[in-house]
Amino acid sequence: MSGLTRARRAAAVAATAAAAATALLAAPSAVAAPQPIVGGTTTTTSAYPFMMQITDASQDQFCGGTLVSPTKVVTAAHCMTGETTGSVRVVGGRTYLNGTDGTVARVGHIWIHPDYRRVTRGDDVAVLTLSTPMPYATAPYVSSSDTAVYAAGSTARVLGWGTTSSGGTSSNQLRTATVPTVSDSSCASSYRTRFVPSDMVCAGYSSGGVDTCQGDSGGPLLIGGRLAGITSWGDGCAAAGYPGVYTRLTTFSDEVTAQVGR
Ligand code: ARG
Repeated sequence: MSGLTRARRAAAVAATAAAAATALLAAPSAVAAPQPIVGGTTTTTSAYPFMMQITDASQDQFCGGTLVSPTKVVTAAHCMTGETTGSVRVVGGRTYLNGTDGTVARVGHIWIHPDYRRVTRGDDVAVLTLSTPMPYATAPYVSSSDTAVYAAGSTARVLGWGTTSSGGTSSNQLRTATVPTVSDSSCASSYRTRFVPSDMVCAGYSSGGVDTCQGDSGGPLLIGGRLAGITSWGDGCAAAGYPGVYTRLTTFSDEVTAQVGR
């Protein structure tokens, strides 16, 4: 990733850390201690073969992605800002960040949603076309009519190598957790106008404690075994009253399908 991108990401982390501090002051007893993919457990890419690392040219991971066809990876638009086909790699079959196993693919094309401006405006979706196919099982993804998957309280699974707390360090091993989806009205009461219900869905416990965090972005939110969301943003990580915000993939599934078929 470019130096500019790195600086922009660092600024975003600082902003969310400040928000987390505010949340901690507001409800100290309700906030669980930060843990990796906050509140999750370790897992492997054998268990989740479609789980991809998005890395720089040195194979340093900075985002997650989901393999939806042998040469197509769904990730977040905000992971790809400032990137070029030459600056990123996709790594499959690598459970540990410090591993050298698995399959490394170059990227031949990056599609970023044309309306994407910033995570709090929505449209946080990108599709990478790999130059060589990945030898791993792919994940099915929701179609545009599958909006019932987001019913409040549905169990959603998240995955990633993200930080173990806001501003913390990444997990060397892939982690996973389950979180309940949150109603749009509840999420809007947390995030006000930054929550765009057509483009976003929230997931997390009202008491916090389980969440994605920095570095998990672009990775999957799975509901019923299908890709239904993309890790996008949140104020802090795992803070009470501030659930994780995910791209609502049903809204973009036709556009993703157009890219998968290109
Ligand atoms: N924006 C972060 C990333 O780039 C993901 C943050 C998710 N935050 C949350 N509280 N769920 O990795």
